[in-house]
Amino acid sequence: MISKKMNEVLNGQVNAELYSSYLYLSMSTWFSEKSLSGFAGWMRAQAQEELFHSVKILDYILERGGNIRLEAIEKPRESWSSPLEVLQETAGHEAKVTDLVNDLVDVALEERDHAASIFLQWFVAEQVEEEATVGEVVEKMKMIGDHSAGLFAMDMEMGKRVFTPPTE
Ligand SMILES: [Fe+2]
Ligand SMILES: [Fe+2]
Repeated sequence: MISKKMNEVLNGQVNAELYSSYLYLSMSTWFSEKSLSGFAGWMRAQAQEELFHSVKILDYILERGGNIRLEAIEKPRESWSSPLEVLQETAGHEAKVTDLVNDLVDVALEERDHAASIFLQWFVAEQVEEEATVGEVVEKMKMIGDHSAGLFAMDMEMGKRVFTPPTE
């Protein structure tokens, strides 16, 4: 059985992951409106991944006999000044999510919940990967600067990403 505290913070993370999904979906539509379909597809895959994270946590809470309370999802931002700004916000957002995941691990350790601690290791590793991936995209975008040919090539590159649900 899961402790009340652990249940509560994991429940909060279900909402945080849904918000991430919502934010990336908003970014995806912004890119679509700018005719950058590769970036839009990349962001859509990102949104699907976050929804997957949310459900993964929700399933874990249920498996441990906890309760789910779905809260309202905050309205995401809907416009940005440039593709670089979108990716920089993504990088910043992922860094914040990493902090949240670390806080969850802290609670698991405080509660001596070793099962939750093991479960959360997947998210710890996932955040390392996500921060590295988006960090690389930001660096490439900086190299491109205002060159539209570079942006065009990057859009093609970003469009290659497809969402595949991670397997254990
Ligand atoms: Fe996530
Ligand atoms: Fe993420």
